[in-house]
Formats: sequence, structure tokens, C-alpha cells
Amino acid sequence: MDSTLSLEVMIQKLDVLMSQETVSVAAVNKLLESYDASRGDWQRYGQTFDAVRYTRTRVWGNKNYNLLVLAWDQGQGSAIHDHENSVCFMKILDGALTETRFSWAKSTGNEDDQEIRVVGSRTLQRNGVAFITDQIGLHAMNNKSNSDKCVSLHLYSPPFEECGVFGADGQALPRSKLTFCKDHAVKSLVPSSTEIAESVKRGCVFDQAEFEALAAAQAVPPQ
Ligand SMILES: [Fe+2]
Repeated sequence: MDSTLSLEVMIQKLDVLMSQETVSVAAVNKLLESYDASRGDWQRYGQTFDAVRYTRTRVWGNKNYNLLVLAWDQGQGSAIHDHENSVCFMKILDGALTETRFSWAKSTGNEDDQEIRVVGSRTLQRNGVAFITDQIGLHAMNNKSNSDKCVSLHLYSPPFEECGVFGADGQALPRSKLTFCKDHAVKSLVPSSTEIAESVKRGCVFDQAEFEALAAAQAVPPQ
């Protein structure tokens, strides 16, 4: 872990990696792993706890990706959701977050399969990094602690404005808009809704062999 790598420099490096025609998921994963959350320079984005639900703060955003900090109070969690054909990386900055993974039609390849099944779960501790795509599955994230808050960093490429949300029975619920309680992105760099819709259709182009190797390495233990 590189204690000299600041959040600012990591973002500069992410800008370069995420602007490639084919994104190296291994390189993004390695860069996120190398950032040491104990340096605490993310804290100016991570103090937005809300008693009702977890909050999102956008740290940085451009046409290639969004970088968000999510603040989870004790016991808060997300619904089961997809990622709009984007790739989603997560890194725990403080506390711990439990990921419960689900299979669905896009991960089983069976479009008739409407049932959502639990694949497994794991708890990511501080500095832990994981990634997910719709091809890998759906997930729900929870801060299961009743004593500790959690802060996590999320990278979505390409950026998206809303995602699919599902009940435990597999039923699609009203889609969720990704709202930000604070937004630090430079407005001139943030794409329009039309541009976002176009890039969501294209999805993220990443190296397939790397993708498969990393997905296997980060497989969630069966529940
Ligand atoms: Fe997610």
C-alpha cells in the first residue's frame, strides 16, 4: 500500500486509466488497492451521515466515470440493484461493508430466469476493493455494524443516472435515481443526460481476459 498516494493523485491516475479505449480492470483495481485509506484525505467528502439513509457525495465526474463517496450510518444498507451495464469498483475507506451477491438473468445467461438467487456474501474491511458488473450479478450493500459507521468509495464507468432496483422476490421495483447530497465535480466536465444515456448504451469496454481473471479472483464465497 502506498501511503504517499494522495486521493488527488489517485484521481489523476484514474483519469488516465479511464480514458483508454479499453479499460484495464486489473490496473484500476491495483490503483484503488494501492491507495491507503488511513491517510484520511477522503474525510472532507465522507462526513455526510444521515439518520434516514446512506448518502452519496460526488468527488469527481467526467464522461468516462463517476467517483462517489458513500456514507453509511450504523445499520444502513442499499436495496438489491444493478449497475446499468457499467463497471462498479468499491473500496472501503472506513468501517466495514457487507456485500450480498445475487444471480439474475444477465449473469446466468438465461433471459427467462426471473428469479433472483443469493450467490453468497462477504464483508469488506477498510482498504478492501471489489468490483461488479451486471454480467457478474446484482448486489446489496449493508453496514451491519450497530456501533461503527462506514465510508466507501465507488467508481462507476461509464457514469449512470439511475439504476434498476429489485425486491428479494426478483420483482423490479421503481428505478432509483442516483442523487448526490454534495457534488464536487467540475460542472464543465460532467456529461449531459443525453451523453450519459448514450454511454450507458455502449457500456464500459474493458479487457475481457483481465475481467474474467479478476472476477474469478474476487468471487464471493457461497452463503
Ligand atoms: Fe452497487
